Amino acid sequence: MSASSLRSLLIEAEAALASAGYPSAAVEAKTLAEYVLQVEHLVLAPPTVGEEQTVRMRELVAARIAGKPIQLLTGDMYFRHLRLKAREGVFIVRPETEMVVESAIAEARRLAAAGKTRLRIMDLCTGSGAIAIALQTELRALGLDPQVAAVEISAAARQLAAQNADQAGAEILIRDEDVTVWRQWWQGESWDLIVSNPPYVPAGVELPVDVIENDPHAALFGGGVDGMQIPHQIIDFAAQALVSGGALVMEHDDTQGKATRETALQQGFSSAETGLDLAGRDRFLLARR
Ligand SMILES: C[S@@+](CC[C@H](N)C(=O)[O-])C[C@H]1O[C@@H](n2cnc3c(N)ncnc32)[C@H](O)[C@@H]1O
Repeated sequence: MSASSLRSLLIEAEAALASAGYPSAAVEAKTLAEYVLQVEHLVLAPPTVGEEQTVRMRELVAARIAGKPIQLLTGDMYFRHLRLKAREGVFIVRPETEMVVESAIAEARRLAAAGKTRLRIMDLCTGSGAIAIALQTELRALGLDPQVAAVEISAAARQLAAQNADQAGAEILIRDEDVTVWRQWWQGESWDLIVSNPPYVPAGVELPVDVIENDPHAALFGGGVDGMQIPHQIIDFAAQALVSGGALVMEHDDTQGKATRETALQQGFSSAETGLDLAGRDRFLLARR
């Protein structure tokens, strides 16, 4: 084995990823090379790659072809304007969740325009902290400075969320609680906005192997045949804990739009609508108290 030219290594990686069916082979090859060479942009890398780095690059391409998410290979994931840490055992935030944050920001602006000061926001099932951190940092940039709390059952996720919050300069109160038993820990505090991307996959749905192998089971399945056990608990909690005029924004499976709207209306929300993802599928509930 000897040193390679960066160009030939990139061509080799892109070809291997493309023939394994990865549609963004060129981007992924570039991302892996930047990671191996520890540069922000490939233009900053020397034209020759050392032997050790060549071996490392080939190992990473092989791991990617075997189905390892690129976020777990590089340790970085991107969400809205944030670069977050990704770690084995913690759910990798998905692009569709950006729409949930977009809707929550619109709700926060509506509440602020109606005279609400110092909004109180709760992110249930926060995972890596992506939603909570994005909301706090983006709302701060808009001149609002919300208090943000988050609930998460997994210790690994709470630790990562704390690290991500630190890195982003966000102050999130991360609580070790189980949303399915919220009646045991809720002490009557109220929130202006409750946001969540909970586990919601219905039982029996066949997820891609790379998802099953790399995202924690407890982050995926919502409980019950329809996957609605945890989403129902979140709607129930929000119905009690939101202030009048406050809003719940909750991501869900594309089969759960009607059921989540109906549950919210039964629980006393004054309105309930379904937001779509970029593919036009039902993706989140927006319900106002
Ligand atoms: C689909 S992941 C979403 C994580 C994060 N909100 C995001 O969008 O990337 C769901 C998260 O809920 C957490 N979780 C699962 N069951 C829970 C429960 N009963 N109480 C609190 N958190 C729970 C999982 O550990 C996981 O981090």
